[in-house]
Amino acid sequence: METTLIILKPDAVQRGLMGRIITRFEDKGLAIVGCKLMTISQELAATHYEAHQGKPFYDGLVGFMTSSPVLVMAIRGVGAISICRKMMGATFGSNAEPGTIRGDFGVSNSFNLIHGSDSTEAATREMSLFFADGEVQELNRAIEGWVYDMSGGDPE
Ligand code: RTP
Ligand code: MG
Repeated sequence: METTLIILKPDAVQRGLMGRIITRFEDKGLAIVGCKLMTISQELAATHYEAHQGKPFYDGLVGFMTSSPVLVMAIRGVGAISICRKMMGATFGSNAEPGTIRGDFGVSNSFNLIHGSDSTEAATREMSLFFADGEVQELNRAIEGWVYDMSGGDPE
């Protein structure tokens, strides 16, 4: 099981798209094990996006991410990191494939609705930036045995 950090960016919250985006992850069978509405500080945005410091889009990116509240989620499942990235679609709304979140809900390149961790290292790092101990739930779902084939012992 992997846990990935998803952020519904200020444009998704302001446009009233939270419910429809969350529904996609729930429909897929992924489990939401952490969730909070928050305003990202300049400092947290800078740490989160430190790999992009110095790039031409960096100041605009940090300005956007701190401009209005976001919804931060911890999403768990087998292969959750890559599944969520596929569901998000390509970075820019203008060329994200239909069927993906960015492809279906936006046209903008910088207002691209959603962030998702892009590797196991990033997921671990970002989860600890946004969630404190105790804020992520164990959530033993009663439906788990119908979401995954558990006959071999591990979720398949
Ligand atoms: P994110 O980190 O937000 O999930 O997006 P991503 O992995 O798909 O894209 P990434 O390369 O990490 O870029 C982070 C955010 O910076 C903006 N960006 N602008 N103008 C540009 O060339 C450019 N490249 C990236 C996007 O808002 C992207 O989400
Ligand atoms: Mg990224």
